[in-house]
Amino acid sequence: MLLEINGLRKEYERGEHRFAAVDDLCLRLERGEFVCLFGRSGSGKTTLLNMIAGLITPDSGEILFDGVGLYSLDDPARTAWRNEKLGYMPQGASLLSNLSVLDNIRLPFHLQPRSGGSLEKARELTRELGISRLEKSYPSALSGGEMRRVALARALMNSPELVIADEPSNDLDAQTAREMASLLSVLNGRGCAFLVATHDQELGRLGRTLEIANGRLLDQDHATEDREVSNVQ
Ligand SMILES: Nc1ncnc2c1ncn2[C@@H]1O[C@H](COP(=O)(O)OP(=O)(O)OP(=O)(O)O)[C@@H](O)[C@H]1O
Ligand SMILES: [Mg+2]
Repeated sequence: MLLEINGLRKEYERGEHRFAAVDDLCLRLERGEFVCLFGRSGSGKTTLLNMIAGLITPDSGEILFDGVGLYSLDDPARTAWRNEKLGYMPQGASLLSNLSVLDNIRLPFHLQPRSGGSLEKARELTRELGISRLEKSYPSALSGGEMRRVALARALMNSPELVIADEPSNDLDAQTAREMASLLSVLNGRGCAFLVATHDQELGRLGRTLEIANGRLLDQDHATEDREVSNVQ
């Protein structure tokens, strides 16, 4: 088991009202699996992904990666873990505008002390993702689809075991979205696990799908109901 999430909960406040953006959520993801998370806007997808990425602290519950509790690590250890094991493709524009495409991609390599260099790997990624010609460009000169590819290359820089992608094909035309889906499929075929929040049915066909509503996974709700029924019987 690569990722195991138990009873995860995150509450937010809006005015007087306190609500759970992620509510008692449980999830399992096997090594090399491709899992898509569907759900309406505001259902809690990004909140969940940010907790898995170690960026937002849950109010309760646990996230185990390779059996290690993420939030049992202190801040520097969790940051090092994220840098080593996880690639994150955040929702929306996430590239640093003052760095070239190549330097954006190389950045995760340099965030933690490690030996060797990043140039060769970054070049290999730009070739593979079809963005070699953009290496010297800056994000402001890229199309939406090109930016996504750069963000994907950056997520792959440290050869992570899991890539989290938050709406990677959102706002792309159908052809470009299909190209993104086939890219993710190829990468998954090489053993990298994916957890993808999306509204794109094309991506849903690449693996297992989950649906989240009001911070809860729907089949998890059914499982709870089943348990309640069997308790009554
Ligand atoms: N920092 C915050 N403070 C208060 N409320 C928040 C905060 N972040 C998110 N929320 C609320 O939590 C709920 C879940 O938000 P989230 O961003 O996880 O949704 P989402 O499923 O990713 O939506 P989308 O498909 O639009 O990206 C929403 O109602 C949102 O307004
Ligand atoms: Mg979101």
